[in-house]
Amino acid sequence: MKGAVTASAPGKVILLGEHAVVFGKTAISVAVGLRLHCRAEPSSFFSLNGHLLSPQTHGYIYQCVQQEWRGDPIAFQTRSEFPSGSGLGSSAAVTTSTLAVLAGMNGKGIDEERIARQAFTVESDVQGRASPIDTSTSSHGHGILIDSKPGPGLLWHIQKDTREWYIHHCPVPQLTLVVGFTGISAPTGPLVAKVKRYADKNTFAREVIEEIGMLSQEGVVCLRRNDQEGLGRLMTKDHRLLAILGVSCKELDKLVEAALPYSYGAKLTGAGGGGSMIALTDRPEIVAEEIRNKGGTPFIVRTDVAGVTLEK
Ligand code: MEV
Repeated sequence: MKGAVTASAPGKVILLGEHAVVFGKTAISVAVGLRLHCRAEPSSFFSLNGHLLSPQTHGYIYQCVQQEWRGDPIAFQTRSEFPSGSGLGSSAAVTTSTLAVLAGMNGKGIDEERIARQAFTVESDVQGRASPIDTSTSSHGHGILIDSKPGPGLLWHIQKDTREWYIHHCPVPQLTLVVGFTGISAPTGPLVAKVKRYADKNTFAREVIEEIGMLSQEGVVCLRRNDQEGLGRLMTKDHRLLAILGVSCKELDKLVEAALPYSYGAKLTGAGGGGSMIALTDRPEIVAEEIRNKGGTPFIVRTDVAGVTLEK
């Protein structure tokens, strides 16, 4: 076993297709330049940030240890550049970076496919119903296209019950995105379960999910052509459809409306119910100011960033 090992993993924003992707529909996400850092060193007991590691409060790291570690106790320290429960994929980033430090402590390097698969298992165990979008984006970085069939840039294929996802590298042009965090921390599991209940009993909800998947397919074409106006229009439509599914809230709607006059498009990102929205814009400073004026916390984020990485 090695001495101290540190890894970091990026947060993500979903450009199109959250929730529908849990049903196996197309979705596009990009890793952003806000990272979560995880440090691990041998210790006399398992701990996280000085507290005894517990399955109740530290579910993701606890599960990583259960599934991947047979050695002596470890003290973990985490530091995040973005808030947890903000829709930016903090659970995925904590999971992929923990799996990376465990691999590092075993003297191994990073295998991004292996980490993406393990992280999806951990996230599904802790959160309940999930898709591999957050964990694959955090592991691979850059841009990810999830589709129901294989295509160019295929990275890996993940299957669970009757659902399957083909995960592709998605080349993403330089995009200027502003994230607006509502300040409301919203856990993903209950929102995903709420959409499932709605879809189980309502044909209209299932049609909305189909339509979100189709918007994502149109989004792939816009990205290929670097058509930001087209992409923005799809994002705003997607927000309206997600609101119909019941996963927006008044704080998210307020930030989206504030950003729209200065943006190609805006939408909630991630599970919703609070968390964050994103705006695609070429006027990031004004959009950030509008978000701040409406009580949100803005982050102007970089895209095309690396996935999970061991740090020197
Ligand atoms: C959360 O970032 C994205 C959701 O689609 C859930 C998932 O895909 O696991 C809401």
